[in-house]
Amino acid sequence: MAEIGKDILKAKGFLEKEQLVAIPTETVYGLAANALNPIAVAKIFEAKERPTFDPLIVHTHSLNEVSRFVTSIHPDLLKLAQIFWPGPLTLLLPKNDSIPNLVTSGLERVGVRVPNHPLTLELLSQLDFPLAAPSANPFGYISPTTAEHVNKQLGTKVPYILDGGSCEVGLESTIVGEENGEIIIYRLGGLSINDIEAVVGKVNVQLNQSSNPKAPGQLKSHYAPKKPIYIGDIIELQNIYAGKKIGAIVFGDNIKLNETTTVKNLSSSKNYQEAAVNLFSFLRELDEDAVDVIITDLLPEQGLGLAINDRLRRAATL
Ligand code: TXA
Ligand code: MG
Repeated sequence: MAEIGKDILKAKGFLEKEQLVAIPTETVYGLAANALNPIAVAKIFEAKERPTFDPLIVHTHSLNEVSRFVTSIHPDLLKLAQIFWPGPLTLLLPKNDSIPNLVTSGLERVGVRVPNHPLTLELLSQLDFPLAAPSANPFGYISPTTAEHVNKQLGTKVPYILDGGSCEVGLESTIVGEENGEIIIYRLGGLSINDIEAVVGKVNVQLNQSSNPKAPGQLKSHYAPKKPIYIGDIIELQNIYAGKKIGAIVFGDNIKLNETTTVKNLSSSKNYQEAAVNLFSFLRELDEDAVDVIITDLLPEQGLGLAINDRLRRAATL
C-alpha cells in the first residue's frame, strides 16, 4: 500500500523523480505527475487504466503561472479566474508548446486550474513545474474524497499520498471555455452556473456524452459504483426491488423507508453543499456494503443540485 502523510518535501521528491503522488484538493483527490514530462504523465494513464483520449487537467499555484502554458486568455475567462481561483473552476485555454500532447490528448486547449487546498498550493509553489492530475480513482469509478479512498483503490500504484483530510467541496471542478466569443460550460461541478453567470452573463451548457469527449470527462457512464444504481421515486423503487437488499441515497428529512433498507441521507436539512460533500463517500460505502442495489432520486435542479444530478445519472448509466 502507499505511504500516507503530510510531508510536502517527500511529495516533491517523488514528483521530481517522475513518480506519481496523490494530492488533496478542495474538490476530489488528484493523481499527480509533472505535467511537462510525458514519461511522468504516461504513468497516470497507466495507473488509472485511463484511455489516452481523455485529457488531463493541469494544476498550478497562481493565475500568473498560467501564462507560461497558454497563448491567450479570453477576457471573460480571465475575470472568472480572478474571482474564483483558487477554487473549483477549470478553464480550457489555448496551449503553447510546453504542454505535451499527451496531457491534452492532442487537443489544442489545455484544462488549467488553481486548486484551493493549502497543502497542494504549498507543494505547487515549491515545484518548478505544474502538475497534471485527474481524479485519483480507477477510470470510470467513483472519485475519491479522502486519502483512504485513494489508498484502497490505487494504493499499489502510487508511492505517496499527501493527506489533506476530507475534500471540502466533494464534486469535481466546473469546466469552462470559450468558442467564438461564447462562454461554454462543458462539465457541471463544484462552482455553480449561477455563480458563473453572475460574472459573465448567460452561458451555454454543453455536456457532451460521446465516448470520445471533445471536452470534459463526459463519458456517459462515469463516477460509477459496481452495484446497479436506479433513479426514480424512492418508495416505488423500494417496492420494485423488495426482494433484494437495498441501499438508498436520499435528500431531505421526510422520507419513510423500510427498516431493512440501508439509508444514507445526503443532507436532512437539504443543504446542497453538504450533499455534494457526502455524495461520493455514500456511493462508495454502499458499493462496499452488503446491499444488492442502490436506489436514489434526483435533487431539485438548482445550484449544486444540477452537478449532483449529473453525477447520479452517470453513475446509473451502465
Ligand atoms: O476537480 C477536478 O477537476 C479534479 C481535481 C483533481 O482537480 N480533477 C478531475 O480530473 O476531475 P478528471 O481527469 O477526472 O476530469 C477532468 C476532465 C476529463 O475527463 C477531461 O475530459 C476534461 O476534464 N478535460 C481535461 N482537459 C481537457 C481539454 N484540454 N479539453 C477538453 N476537456 C478536457
Ligand atoms: Mg475523474
